[in-house]
Amino acid sequence: MTDHTPLGVYVHWPYCARICPYCDFNIYKNKTVDAARWIEVLTRDLEHWAARTPNRKLTSLYFGGGTPSLAPLGVIDAVIRACERLWGFAPDAEITIEANPTDAEQAHFEALAGAGVNRLSLGVQSLRDDALRFLGRDHDAAAARRAIETAQRVFNRTTFDLIYARPGQTLDAWRAELSEALDFGAGHLSLYQLTIEPGTAFAKAVSAGRWAPANEDQCADQFDLAQEMTASAGLPAYEISNHAAPGERSRHNLIYWNYHDYIGVGPGAHGRLSIDGSRLATEAAKAPADYLAGGADGYVTEALDEAAQLVERLTMGLRLADGITLYADDFFYADEARTERLHALIADGLVTLDCGRLVATANGRRVLNAVLYELLR
Ligand SMILES: C[S@@+](CC[C@H](N)C(=O)[O-])C[C@H]1O[C@@H](n2cnc3c(N)ncnc32)[C@H](O)[C@@H]1O
Repeated sequence: MTDHTPLGVYVHWPYCARICPYCDFNIYKNKTVDAARWIEVLTRDLEHWAARTPNRKLTSLYFGGGTPSLAPLGVIDAVIRACERLWGFAPDAEITIEANPTDAEQAHFEALAGAGVNRLSLGVQSLRDDALRFLGRDHDAAAARRAIETAQRVFNRTTFDLIYARPGQTLDAWRAELSEALDFGAGHLSLYQLTIEPGTAFAKAVSAGRWAPANEDQCADQFDLAQEMTASAGLPAYEISNHAAPGERSRHNLIYWNYHDYIGVGPGAHGRLSIDGSRLATEAAKAPADYLAGGADGYVTEALDEAAQLVERLTMGLRLADGITLYADDFFYADEARTERLHALIADGLVTLDCGRLVATANGRRVLNAVLYELLR
C-alpha cells in the first residue's frame, strides 16, 4: 500500500568555485571531480535509503550545496534516473537545483531541464555591484540580472536568494533593491538577513573590528519592509525568509518545516526518517573523501526521542506563517509548566493556538528564538 506522506531527497554537492566570506556550509573549493565515482556512490546510497522507505513516491528532489550547478550533468541526470527507478516521482514532484549566476548558460539550464529539473534556485545575493564585491561574489549585478532572465526563460518555476541587512545598507537602499528584485516577477524569493557565522572570514573581520554588522533595529526595520513589500507584490512570507505567490512555495523546504521525511545523501547531508515507528536522524560523512570512501555504513543514525522531536518540530514549524498542528495527545502537553508558558505567550500576542494550530504571530516571528526558548526550556 503506497504511503503518500511527503518524502523528499536532498543531494549535497560540496564543491564551489570559490568560498564566500560569509558562508559556513559544508563546502570545499572545486577540484576536478570523478563523475563516475560520484554517480556510483550517490546511487548506492539512494538504493540504501530506498530499501528502508518502500512503497513511497518522491514529492521532491533538491540539489543543494555548495554549487550543484557546477556538478557534471551526468551526475545530476544519474541521480534523477535513480530516484525515478527507486521510488518514482509523485505527479507534481518538484526537482530543484541551486545555481550560481556564473553558471547561468542557457544551454546548461536547458540540459538540466532536459534531465528533469523543473525549478531553479539562483544564488544572486544582491543586485548591487558594491554589495557583491563586499560579499566576495564572482559575479556582478549585470550578470545576476542576465542569470535571472535566463532562468526564467528556461524554467517555469524559479527563485533567487538575496542577502540583506548588510553593514551600511540603508532602509531606502534596501527598498530600491527589493523593488527591483520584485520587478522580475519571480514566483518565489528567499530573503536572508546576513548572519555572521563562526569560523567564517566575516566572523574574523568583525572580531578584528574591521567592520560592524547591521544592528538589531536596522535588521528589524529591513525585515518589516521585506514583509510589507513582498505581501503587496503578491509574494507574502510563508516562512521567515521565504516569500511566494500562490502555488509557488518550495515543496522541498516545506518538508523540512513541516517535519516530514527526507533523505540526505552527499557529504554532510542530514536526513529525518520515520522508520518502524521510530524517528531517525541521519548524517553522512562530511569530508568528500570520507563520504566517497565510506559508503552507506558512513552514515551516523540516531533515534530521536519525543523531547528531541518536539524541539525540532517547533523550531522548524514555527518559522512557518501557518505554524504547526498540536495533537490532543501531543508530547507538547506532557509538561504542565510548558502549557502555562504557552498561555503567557498567547496573552503577550506572540503565538496563537486555534483548532490545534500553534502559530507564531508576526511579532512572535520577529523574536522567534525567545518564543522557542520559552516553549522548550
Ligand atoms: C547553499 S547556499 C547557495 C549556494 C550557491 N552556491 C550560491 O552561493 O549561490 C544557500 C543560500 O544561503 C544564503 N546564505 C549562506 N550563508 C549566509 C549567511 N551567512 N547569511 C545569510 N545568508 C546566507 C545565501 O543566500 C545562499 O544563496
